[in-house]
Amino acid sequence: MNYQNILVETHDHVGLIILNRPDVLNALSDDLMDELGDAVDKFEADDSIGALVVTGNDKAFAAGADIKRMKDSGYMDVYMGNFIGRNWERISTCRKPVIAAVAGYALGGGCELAMMCDFIIAADSAQFGQPEIKLGVIPGAGGTQRLTRFVGKSKAMEMCLTGRMMNADEAERSGLVSRIVPADDLLEDAMKTAKKIAALSKPSVMMAKTAVNRAYETTLTEGVRFERTIFQSLFATDDKNEGMTAFIEKRKPDWNHR
Ligand code: CAA
Repeated sequence: MNYQNILVETHDHVGLIILNRPDVLNALSDDLMDELGDAVDKFEADDSIGALVVTGNDKAFAAGADIKRMKDSGYMDVYMGNFIGRNWERISTCRKPVIAAVAGYALGGGCELAMMCDFIIAADSAQFGQPEIKLGVIPGAGGTQRLTRFVGKSKAMEMCLTGRMMNADEAERSGLVSRIVPADDLLEDAMKTAKKIAALSKPSVMMAKTAVNRAYETTLTEGVRFERTIFQSLFATDDKNEGMTAFIEKRKPDWNHR
């Protein structure tokens, strides 16, 4: 696929996807989402890639779904075309870790896209919001559900009902982002973090991601049982033997990802 709306780079086992519609604050068009899904497919299939980073530019991660392209759509257009369901959620099914590096606006679908990633590193300039209510609609890519799980009912309800934005400090306090870095350091920091993950044993990284995600989908008892099974299964891997032997021999592990 020839990308018109994103830029894709590879750095030391990390796949970097840069949303690239700067004239419209990276508004998420259907074409952009198709390209994003294609890039995720390719990075996921590439054995040399251990983690992904998704970012935008200084002014916007993404200001939401493309309002100009949605304006003339009716119910049957979005229902029969499976708008959002068709191509927006690919990133949330990626088996490799995905970090969202957010500077500037992450609004509407932009906030939802960031929340589909495994964690968000925010620049001090970041602003998060679900302003769809001001357009006569509601969040449509998981905002009412994921934001509520991240920040709790009260803040999520206020944001979805009023469109109020949350700055980086509030987002960190509320658990929406893992940490804040100066805007100038955002990409470097996110890439460094992704490289650290990509240098670990792939099966244990993928299983850790699966286990943490399970916490959002099941009870505590079931989740802990699931974690125990995964933990025990990792004792069947070469990398468990290598990791523990390397620790005892005071050397760096040499993973074979098996
Ligand atoms: N869709 C299409 N174009 C957008 C856009 C969007 N979501 N957000 C910004 N743009 C465009 C603007 O129309 C403008 O284009 P023109 O120069 O052609 O007029 C350009 O980007 C720059 O934007 P502004 O001039 O508005 O920039 P600003 O700095 O004054 O304001 C902003 C920035 C507060 C983010 C404002 O652009 C804004 O409110 N954007 C819309 C945010 C929004 O409502 N997002 C939700 C979309 S619906 C959705 O996402 C549904 C879902 O859940 C999936």
